[in-house]
Amino acid sequence: MQKNVFLINTLNTHYVMGVNDDGVLQHIHWGAKMPVDQYSVFNEWERNSNHSELDYTKEEYSVFGGTRYRAAALKCIHADGCRDSVFTFKSVTRDEGLLEITLTDSEYDVDLVLSYAYGSDHDIITRSVTVVNNGNAAITLERVFSAELNLPSRSPYKVINTNGSWGAEFLTESNELNNGTVVYESKKGIAGHTHSPFVIMHRDATEDWGDVFFAALGYGGNFKIEVNRDFCNTTRCMLGISDFDFSYTLGAGEKFTAPKVYMGYTCGFTAMSNMMNDFAVDNILPKGYAKKHLPVLYNSWEATEFDVNTRDQLALARIAADIGCELFVMDDGWFGKRNNDRAGLGDWYVNTDKFPNGLGELIDGVNSLGMDFGLWFEPEMVQQDSDLYRAHPEWTYHYDSRTPSLLRHQLVLNLTRDDVREYVFDCMDSMLSKYNIRYIKWDMNRPFSEIGTDNLENGKELWYRHTMAVYDIADRLHKKYPYLQLEACASGGGRAELGAMEHFDMVWTSDNTDPVDRLYIQRGYSMLYPRKCMRAWVTDAGGSCRCSDDFRFNTSMQGSLSIGSHLLKKDKKTLQGYKEYIARYKSVRDTIQFGDLYRLANYDCDGVFITQYVSKDKSQSVLFISTAPTSLFNKQDKEFVLKGLDPNADYECRYNDNTYRHSGRFLMNKWHKVTIGGALQSRIVVLNRV
Ligand code: DGJ
Repeated sequence: MQKNVFLINTLNTHYVMGVNDDGVLQHIHWGAKMPVDQYSVFNEWERNSNHSELDYTKEEYSVFGGTRYRAAALKCIHADGCRDSVFTFKSVTRDEGLLEITLTDSEYDVDLVLSYAYGSDHDIITRSVTVVNNGNAAITLERVFSAELNLPSRSPYKVINTNGSWGAEFLTESNELNNGTVVYESKKGIAGHTHSPFVIMHRDATEDWGDVFFAALGYGGNFKIEVNRDFCNTTRCMLGISDFDFSYTLGAGEKFTAPKVYMGYTCGFTAMSNMMNDFAVDNILPKGYAKKHLPVLYNSWEATEFDVNTRDQLALARIAADIGCELFVMDDGWFGKRNNDRAGLGDWYVNTDKFPNGLGELIDGVNSLGMDFGLWFEPEMVQQDSDLYRAHPEWTYHYDSRTPSLLRHQLVLNLTRDDVREYVFDCMDSMLSKYNIRYIKWDMNRPFSEIGTDNLENGKELWYRHTMAVYDIADRLHKKYPYLQLEACASGGGRAELGAMEHFDMVWTSDNTDPVDRLYIQRGYSMLYPRKCMRAWVTDAGGSCRCSDDFRFNTSMQGSLSIGSHLLKKDKKTLQGYKEYIARYKSVRDTIQFGDLYRLANYDCDGVFITQYVSKDKSQSVLFISTAPTSLFNKQDKEFVLKGLDPNADYECRYNDNTYRHSGRFLMNKWHKVTIGGALQSRIVVLNRV
């Protein structure tokens, strides 16, 4: 291989860069493996006075300046006012699984370190960028994207992201990008419910076939993804912190590392989802619970809302334990003067009207039923009707000249202040040190507004610093209480992304617990995020006429099964049913939480949802078949084949009171007919290797 060419060799792919005669780091190849001695750089040339060679060069990380007239990954302002950057190759280091290429500015003492972590057992490359200010004056960063991706071929790509909202998260949509730029972004302070900090790019790929290029940002603050197809028909993508109100002052001798990007190339969407699922379990999730299955939990929010007390919560807990729940979570309403959503946030001490003797009796009771206890917090928030706000109105983001905008009657605390961060940590710490609390649901129910900070010299740092503060507090809690499980929630799925999942053990995917809607939401989530982290409640949403318990459980069993129904309103027979569903889930939970996923059919294309999970050792497979809300006569027969089984093994399953035994080869090649017996029917089929 040429000296100026750098290769990253993953399980099935090569990612190749090289330095051209001008010292510019070029992107050379991302895709299938090829003979390594055949990779080389290509020196472009100025084609006429309007198009410099940089227009044609696939730069690995383009910076603002010179004759670049396209979006740049980096933009910085030097102390003398110069906004032009010139970064050329300086050095390269390679350690086991880590390639670092340093570029340096010709005039200013600033380095850019592009780092690529990779492994030989997967195809995910973890990229990040560090700006190092070795000079003796501060520089201002206006844009530091985490990665730029250059895609092969000149034909247009389809770009997949989500276009959702509260209660409708993860609704994937596709744009065919013929020219110009498509942007997916959050400006709310968190990733939010609309677009997702990931991107999938392909040209007519399917679940099993076709080139799929994807990347997900490990950051849940304001993010931005830009995909552009230029006049040469070259498609490029950039991912990073949104620059809509970003700026960061990098003092002399300081470094700034942009959030990580996890990117990969696979054949088909199924390989992408399974590779990212496994990668997240092995490399992203907090170590404590990453490889343990998550417990079946009961959360009392939809049953009791703010009306919580020891007697009622214990009554629910008794039933929850009896049906097989392993963890009982008391949600909102236990603290301060929290009788509705108008007061109390910030006062994280027990409401003594509701719990005159504290939480001890409830927690002991839950524990004596054999369950762990979990508690809800919304740590980043305060309400004007709270002791905290009365004492410290200055602790919120605010401008003295502006009336603060309330959403859900609440304001966002300025977590960029050390004292506020300490207060927030101490509130949770004091509850955790006093009580046997083993689970915290960390909620976040409104976007930022009036984003003034008195404490920051560069106020535009707040978005980034706030996100880092959340991660820092979560890490400190995990460190001090290694048994603690943390759930990230933001009005449902506003924080269901890989940035949160590096610090929280699981996420709440949506406040929408309607099981039909949830199939769409779960499908979008499953594209790039780990299944085990997806909390999925069975609730009473929509009433019994909308969906049967079969349907509800078969939907929620496709992630981390949880229960949110009002158990005190269920009759004995229903509860016996719940008990059986939960027992069934426990018998297949490892396959679902850690196995491979195959999306066999969905409502939009097939009129039926079929999802198949296969354990890693291929000894068990679980199939969920759910029919649509409509059942059209004469369109009732559907056919599908199974995937991922051991072709040489026999599998046995029970279906319609009969036992069937077939080889994996048969099951994966013979198209099986399902006849839809009506709208909103649901079946689970478990196949065990004989
Ligand atoms: C929003 C969450 O998404 C719900 O699950 C619940 O915790 C409420 N907040 C409580 O206020």
